[in-house]
Amino acid sequence: MELYTYEELKDFVDRCVRCPLSQTRNHPVMGRGNLKSPILFIAEGPGRTEDQSGIPFTGRSGQVFDRLLSGIQMSREDVYITNIVKCHPPGNRDPLPAEQEACMPYLKYETLLLRPKIIVCLGRIAAQRIIRPDYRITKEHGTFICRKNVYLTSVYHPSAILRDERKFPEAQDDFFAIKKWLSENA
Ligand code: URA
Repeated sequence: MELYTYEELKDFVDRCVRCPLSQTRNHPVMGRGNLKSPILFIAEGPGRTEDQSGIPFTGRSGQVFDRLLSGIQMSREDVYITNIVKCHPPGNRDPLPAEQEACMPYLKYETLLLRPKIIVCLGRIAAQRIIRPDYRITKEHGTFICRKNVYLTSVYHPSAILRDERKFPEAQDDFFAIKKWLSENA
């Protein structure tokens, strides 16, 4: 299978017209971070702030994400973060299955580039796409499975924490478990 560099992939994403989200976006949002990181975070899709900046998690949910990372003594420079769909779904709706499908090749190539040891899904949409279609985030967040030698887990989406700050301690516990996993395995 052919591999692409980060710059090549970003260029594809910047010019992408594979689905109708390309007609309403301001900026496509390519994943970003440390290409040598053992940890790949996958969220669902850019919000309004990210649509303006072209950078993942630059809005309020990004601040929550940064708090969770700093709780385990990590920062954006230590991780790579991307989304299932690279363009903002209008009105912040869930990305449609066809939009997710159209965007999957980019995620596949990002994964091939990174070769992560662990993939952390942020929220239900990513977990149902990456782990299992009937994944129940409220029940299963923080649990680990291994597939093709890559560990998969999920945590609450930062925007779910913004809606209900009581979810923060649970999410932080899941981050502690990820940190422990990394210290033992990466
Ligand atoms: N929410 C997401 O799912 N992704 C982002 O990049 C920002 C907010």
